[in-house]
Amino acid sequence: MAERDLLVRKIERGVVVDHILHGEALSVLKILRPDPSAKVVVALNVESTKLGKKDIIKVEGKYVTSKEVDFISLVAPNATVNVIEDWEVKEKRRVKLPNTIEGVFKCPNLSCPTNAEFEPERTKFKVLDASSIKSLKLQCTYCGAYLYSGSIRDSLTAGTVGGLVSREKIEKTFLDVLLKKGALKIASSPQEAFILKSGRPSTYFINMGSLTDGESLAKMKWAFASFISLLRDEEKLEDFDFIFGSAYKGINLATLACEGLSELYGINKRYLYDRKEEKAYGDTSADKVIVGADHFKQGQRILLIDDVITTGGTKIESLEKLELLGTHKVVGLVLVVDRQEKMGDVNKVDKRSAVDYIQEDFGVKVFSILGLKTIFDLVKSGLSEEVRQSWIDYYDKYGAVKIH
Ligand code: CTP
Ligand code: ZN
Repeated sequence: MAERDLLVRKIERGVVVDHILHGEALSVLKILRPDPSAKVVVALNVESTKLGKKDIIKVEGKYVTSKEVDFISLVAPNATVNVIEDWEVKEKRRVKLPNTIEGVFKCPNLSCPTNAEFEPERTKFKVLDASSIKSLKLQCTYCGAYLYSGSIRDSLTAGTVGGLVSREKIEKTFLDVLLKKGALKIASSPQEAFILKSGRPSTYFINMGSLTDGESLAKMKWAFASFISLLRDEEKLEDFDFIFGSAYKGINLATLACEGLSELYGINKRYLYDRKEEKAYGDTSADKVIVGADHFKQGQRILLIDDVITTGGTKIESLEKLELLGTHKVVGLVLVVDRQEKMGDVNKVDKRSAVDYIQEDFGVKVFSILGLKTIFDLVKSGLSEEVRQSWIDYYDKYGAVKIH
């Protein structure tokens, strides 16, 4: 057995970055930024036929690799990224240096339009010389200033770019957005409960419509695209041609997901949405009700996307509207939050949750990024005893899960 095999054992699943120039492993690790709890092995100075000596990084766990791993090429141009599953190399990719890099590096020239105090331009650099790491040079397309390898490395390892994507990271990103941007509202007392469309008095309310700032949108784009890409990678979600978001709030979710999939993962899909005001379906043609329908071909596949599911009413309306397209297949429904409650109203409590209903009666798989239980576990310690108890009571009565 070769020496390196003794030193770095094979892994069952995870990501192996191989053929890293010796000495660069720690910079690469900073670009990868695995979860703090991930098992990571860094091997320095191991034998290599190609490089003499090389470094290797192995990260165990389930990850997707986005185009951002290409930033590794700025410090380790020959690196390969291997995705391992069931002990086998499932995918091997040479990292590729991009021709231009947008929005990552700061221009060193303080009078550059990208450094303007008000409405600065988004930075854009051309990769000039990439023949070796030492000669690596980027040029600002606005002012012509150069950025050299030392400062490139400094910004790369500052922890703002790249990163392996895991389910935990996606959950955490969305939770952060919901909490920090005030989209999760919690009643200050049981008397202040939010009355839902179903008439049920809920201790909490999620209003994704309040996430209208650019920072939230950027995070949602990342999280949606990463979640969908992860589901595809895990083969839980079959391929699709369109993402459908229902009016109004679903529309921007569909556009964000589409844009993110293309930008981060190179997956180019189209989106569709419905017009709310078109009520008479009868003989109305599909493209009057569903925007984007002119690109639809019979038999194509659609992924639905939405923010929150409570009783599932809107989702079922969407499924019905899609009938206008003709033959099509709905491959799944992606949601941000599953409230995990049973269907019905304030008095009536069904046996099944909305998610069960959609899965069983419509044969549509439902994938939620967050469940109420996860959210509750995170916020419960900060609640007053009274509010906490009324939240628990609500789930005793209406919940598809119990919380405590
Ligand atoms: N690897 C691993 N666990 C596995 C399979 C592979 O850690 N179950 C690691 C190997 O140790 C190697 C990298 O993943 O560092 C790529 O594996 P493989 O393609 O089998 O190795 P090579 O043929 O040496 O790769 P290359 O052609 O890229 O040099
Ligand atoms: Zn500049």
